[in-house]
Amino acid sequence: MMNQFPKGFLWGGATAANQLEGGYDQGGKGLNLADVLPGGKVRYSIISNPGFDFKMDKEQFHYPNHEAIDFYNRYKEDIALFAEMGFKAYRMSIAWSRIFPKGDEEAPNEEGLAFYDRVFDELHKHGIEPVVTISHYEIPLHLITEYGGWRNRKVVGFFDRCARTLFNRYKNKVKYWMTFNEINGAILHPILGLGFSPDSEETRLQESLQGLHHQFVASSMAVKAGHDIIPGSQIGCMLVYAPVYSIDCQPANVMHALQEEQMFNYLCGDVQVRGEYPAFTKRFFKENGIELDIQDGDLELLKQHTVDYIGFSYYMSRTEKKVKTDEEKASGNIFSGVKNPFLQASEWGWEIDPEGLRISLNQLYDRYRVPLFIVENGLGAVDKVEEDGSIKDHYRIDYLREHIQAMGEAIEDGVDLIGYTSWGCIDLVSASTGELSKRYGFIYVDKHDDGSGTLERKKKESFYWYQNVIATNGSEL
Ligand code: BG6
Repeated sequence: MMNQFPKGFLWGGATAANQLEGGYDQGGKGLNLADVLPGGKVRYSIISNPGFDFKMDKEQFHYPNHEAIDFYNRYKEDIALFAEMGFKAYRMSIAWSRIFPKGDEEAPNEEGLAFYDRVFDELHKHGIEPVVTISHYEIPLHLITEYGGWRNRKVVGFFDRCARTLFNRYKNKVKYWMTFNEINGAILHPILGLGFSPDSEETRLQESLQGLHHQFVASSMAVKAGHDIIPGSQIGCMLVYAPVYSIDCQPANVMHALQEEQMFNYLCGDVQVRGEYPAFTKRFFKENGIELDIQDGDLELLKQHTVDYIGFSYYMSRTEKKVKTDEEKASGNIFSGVKNPFLQASEWGWEIDPEGLRISLNQLYDRYRVPLFIVENGLGAVDKVEEDGSIKDHYRIDYLREHIQAMGEAIEDGVDLIGYTSWGCIDLVSASTGELSKRYGFIYVDKHDDGSGTLERKKKESFYWYQNVIATNGSEL
């Protein structure tokens, strides 16, 4: 078979600071959003509904992100394992509250900056390119409790200060950046993306879109600053992408699927890549009573400072029907679609659709014509450690193989795909449920939902499989 993957393709893995670092009160770090999110199913309910007060209740709940998998103290060992797999790139994020513990200080916390210096140096020692998300479901708690998160325009200035601090400090160490993780996900889960709980279901859309406008402005400011401070830097947006299928060919269902696709998949990409709010927002905003506070100069800024590439996560597709009954709804998918009768789902109900990845790559490239980077993809599953210590995760290998094959097809289709960093290359805390048992890694971590575990790392079968995928640049799957 011809090898479709270009030379220099960025194979690797992805994580987020709050989901693996732990050390929540070490090195001068302030509390952040994830520090007050409990573990278990209750988290999903908190992030999906209005009314959360962002207070910790240690009597009642367990807070898994506090220790996570202790990457803060074990990063050398973990990066050595990434290097053993042959990673060319490692996607990670910065804990904003390590750099600005409260978020509104004038000067950064040197200990926090020094930690990431050590991480980047360790990566470069092994020839691994860091790919850095500035904000991955991350905001200092103080900016939530005192300012109301991204609702407040002032947060744009605090983010700008943080981004400039990072660009200046790491200008010789980091070339690939992304501004906000899964920016379009904020419409579904404003708590994670925007750091506030909407006042009510009725105001959710208005509040989320205003928060998003603030992030668009902050992102463009970061693109401008990044290009000024680091010549040759590549600054991307990051979308959660799930192609939307209509349940059938009934035109009303097709139109509904198209509208869902526009609002969810294209609104943010259009602003961040094309530099303008798309045409469909005019009618949508009017009919839904959305009024955005857009200040003088905002639209010019968005137009002038668009991103260099699109980073996106891909886990599932989504199937839509205009009128759906409760029985038809897809249970685990994070979107509100209906079950797709042609697809199997993961243990968490996420529908598995490798062909959907090829479709996504084609759709995104056709629409935007900028390089694409898959910065998350993977299977969350329960893993069993055998008596001999091995972990036979062939289900994960099957999942990844099929998705990588779909990437190869898309490259043949003409898509400019520059890299692939699979999600949770080392087991970590789940973002939506706070579970440790929802594992994505090539590396197993002995840490469990109740907080127990030795934190010992073990290589799964997928570790050796992925090592060979990278060594053969994707030609042996
Ligand atoms: C993405 C997020 O939505 O999906 C990650 O960017 C997250 O932070 C990943 O961990 C998988 O979701 P979950 O809920 O299984 O951790």
